[in-house]
Amino acid sequence: MADGPRHVAIIMDGNGRWARQRHLPRAMGHKRGVEAVRNLLRGVRGMGLEALTLYAFSSENWRRPADEIDDLTRLMKHFIRSDLDEIAANGVRLKIIGDHSAFDEEAVALIDGALTRTAGNTGTTLAIALNYGGQQEIVRAARAAAAQGEITEDTLAAHLDTADMPPLDLLIRTSGEIRLSNFLLWQSAYAELSFTDVLWPDFTVDHLRQAVAQFAGRERRFGGR
Ligand code: FPP
Repeated sequence: MADGPRHVAIIMDGNGRWARQRHLPRAMGHKRGVEAVRNLLRGVRGMGLEALTLYAFSSENWRRPADEIDDLTRLMKHFIRSDLDEIAANGVRLKIIGDHSAFDEEAVALIDGALTRTAGNTGTTLAIALNYGGQQEIVRAARAAAAQGEITEDTLAAHLDTADMPPLDLLIRTSGEIRLSNFLLWQSAYAELSFTDVLWPDFTVDHLRQAVAQFAGRERRFGGR
C-alpha cells in the first residue's frame, strides 16, 4: 500500500445548497462551512499531513453579490480572531496563496498578523487560497521565471505560490461538481482527484480519511507504467 498523502487540497463547495436545503440564508451555509473547517483542522491533527490547502475565495468570487462577499470577509476575520490561538498553539504554519491584499484593510492586517505569528511554526502548513486563480498564478510565475532566465517546468514551479510546499497528492471537491474551477491547475498535474456528493458544511474528517484510504489504494504511475 502506498504511503499516505503529504499534501491534500480541498475545493470546499456546497455551502449555498446546504443552506437552501434547510430554507436558511446563504450566510448560514458559509457559517457552517467555517465550522467544518475548524472541525477538520482539529480532526487532521496526528494524521501526519505536511500540507492542507483550502479554496476559500476564488478570483472569480468577486462576481458574487456585495453582501455575500461581506459575509465571507466577516467570517474570515472572525475565524482568525477566534481560532488563531489554537492554530498557532498546534504548530500550524499559515500561508495564503493568491492575493489577499484585495480584501479590506482590517482583513489584510489580521491575515498579515496571522502569517507573521505562525511563520516559524514547523507543523502542518495550512494554505488558504484567497482571491486565488490557478491561471493567474501560472502567468505570474511564468513572468517571474522569465525575468530571471529560462522558463522550464522547474523554474516556473519555483515561482508558484506553492513553491515551498510538498507536491499536491490528493485534490478533493465536495458537493458533486466535477470541475477544477481554476484551482491548483499546475499542481494537479499528477494529483489523485476525489469527488464527493457531500456538501461542504457536512464534510468531516471521516470523509477525508475515506478519500485518503482510496488514495493509499491507488497506484500512482506519474506517466510511467
Ligand atoms: C462554496 O459554496 C464555498 C465558498 C465560495 C466559500 C468557501 C468558504 C468557506 C467554507 C469559509 C472558509 C473560511 C475560512 C476561514 C477558511 P457555494 O456558496 O458556492 O455553494 P453552492 O455552490 O451550493 O451555492
